[in-house]
Amino acid sequence: MRSWLLALPLLLSSGVSSTLFARDGSSSKVIRVPFSKERAAHSQYNKREPASKTATQKLDNKDFLFYANVTVGTPPQHIRLHIDTGSSDIWVETATSEICRRDGGGSCDIGGTYDNGTSSTAEYVEGEFSIMYVDGQYASGVYAKDTLGIGGVGVKDVQFGIGLKGTSEEGVLGIGFESRQSRVSAGLDPYPGLVTQMVNQELINSRAYSVWLNDLNAAAGEILFGGIDTGKFKGPLATIPLSRRTDLPSPIDFIITLHGLTIENGEGETRELMNTSRSVPALLDTGASFTYLPQDIADQLIELVGAVTVPEYKGPAVNCSKRSLEGSVNFVFAGATIEVNLRDFIIDATDEPNEDNHILCYFGILGMSEGSVLTLGDTFLRSAYVVYDMDNEAISIAQTIFNSTSTNIMEIGSGPDAVPSATRSSTDVDSIPVTATASSGSTSSDTAVKSTGSPNVSSSGATKLSIAPTNFLTRFLVSILSLAILL
Ligand SMILES: *[C@@H]1O[C@H](CO)[C@@H](O)[C@H](O)[C@H]1NC(C)=O
Ligand SMILES: *[C@@H]1O[C@H](CO)[C@@H](O)[C@H](O)[C@H]1NC(C)=O
Ligand SMILES: *[C@@H]1O[C@H](CO)[C@@H](O)[C@H](O)[C@H]1NC(C)=O
Ligand SMILES: *[C@@H]1O[C@H](CO)[C@@H](O)[C@H](O)[C@H]1NC(C)=O
Ligand SMILES: *[C@@H]1O[C@H](CO)[C@@H](O)[C@H](O)[C@H]1NC(C)=O
Ligand SMILES: *[C@@H]1O[C@H](CO)[C@@H](O)[C@H](O)[C@H]1NC(C)=O
Repeated sequence: MRSWLLALPLLLSSGVSSTLFARDGSSSKVIRVPFSKERAAHSQYNKREPASKTATQKLDNKDFLFYANVTVGTPPQHIRLHIDTGSSDIWVETATSEICRRDGGGSCDIGGTYDNGTSSTAEYVEGEFSIMYVDGQYASGVYAKDTLGIGGVGVKDVQFGIGLKGTSEEGVLGIGFESRQSRVSAGLDPYPGLVTQMVNQELINSRAYSVWLNDLNAAAGEILFGGIDTGKFKGPLATIPLSRRTDLPSPIDFIITLHGLTIENGEGETRELMNTSRSVPALLDTGASFTYLPQDIADQLIELVGAVTVPEYKGPAVNCSKRSLEGSVNFVFAGATIEVNLRDFIIDATDEPNEDNHILCYFGILGMSEGSVLTLGDTFLRSAYVVYDMDNEAISIAQTIFNSTSTNIMEIGSGPDAVPSATRSSTDVDSIPVTATASSGSTSSDTAVKSTGSPNVSSSGATKLSIAPTNFLTRFLVSILSLAILL
């Protein structure tokens, strides 16, 4: 309880619930939301599925999810939600849901639950809520509207789902384009999402937010609604227009054009993996743990770090000692190049140190599945500072500063040049239209995505790998991975 008050400092100065979310007039229109990173634990989900089907999803989900503390209702009910830029529905658990009542109750204690009966600001909303994510997770129930407290600010009349059935004990804070709402894929009109309500209630100036994921090993990152923090990035903050799907009038995903890819060996030698002749649309997806590149390029990188594919698990594994590798993979965009250290692609496969002390790691680059879009997930995004500007249908991107303690928050304004200190490149006009829309690795897209390009994770493993693992190593990896899967 005490840490909640610390997390929401504005609460301290105002003891009365009616003024709980009042902001003092001098504060800028930026909502600052720290988030924590935790390993996903879809244990129940996996137990119910045959291992072969979920192995790849597990591999992906085994990585980190980002959680923000929010409150819902009046008086505030504390809940933590998984932040997701790739989906657009907010939904919360309630104590009477199927999953929360399971095993005698208590399974939703960590995330918290919402009870509309004890909130004086709860409003009834007609219609049924239902969302299906690409990885097979789903939630369904009813809609509601209530005050949502986030970053010490109360946003009124926020519509969200109350999950009555589903696969997850914890809800999601989807903050993508409204045209991605699950209702829209069912042929209904969108409703104003959280970010739009923040603008409508003059809490921020425009529908834009920035995300600093920070180092994998750092406990926390930060999202700023309506603002940027120039203390968290270096080099140019380049503005790049979003690509849109050929069959739609405007963008509905955070997809920009990737113009090139190089690898640097730590001694200044650079090899080109991809250049402008092969520019491709790339989805920025915080809901994907890994980065999915064209198969031939993924293969080159996998071979380079000496990763091996374990057929049963469809993804590359690598000896964790490879973290000592110098060098980086550089992602070239119009106006900015993001450098990702090779070691930042090497992710612990298990929570617990195993007998050989963290000998097994995942390599965070996989080949794309057929018909899906190149996906820049967390292994890439951690090295980038990203502004998601929905009003201008653009991304602004810069090289992150890991563990930066310097803070200089600036308000994002409104209009075409709303993002302060960002520069629009003159070469950014050639954004590549998108024909495939499914992320290769997302846990975050809804059924609409599913039907347009089902990501076939089982066909995306690095099967063309040229280096053959020794039998011993394969057996070793398989047994350790089996353990990880069953945990
Ligand atoms: C969320 O609240 C919990 C419980 O009070 C606290 O331990 C945690 O640090 C908070 N997380 C963030 C990101 O503020
Ligand atoms: C409150 O939530 C329940 C589900 O938990 C729903 O059946 C009911 O209609 C809601 N009531 C109102 C007034 O929204
Ligand atoms: C950032 O901080 C974490 C936790 O203190 C540490 O493990 C990590 O090495 C730091 N990263 C960098 C790049 O300094
Ligand atoms: C781009 O890459 C292709 C294929 O690797 C290569 O043939 C071509 O020369 C490259 N173009 C430039 C400008 O480097
Ligand atoms: C992993 O690398 C370390 C250090 O190079 C080595 O001692 C160990 O045998 C390797 N483990 C496997 C399973 O290859
Ligand atoms: C998915 O991949 C499997 C194995 O490669 C293949 O048999 C199947 O037809 C693919 N499904 C789709 C929808 O592409």
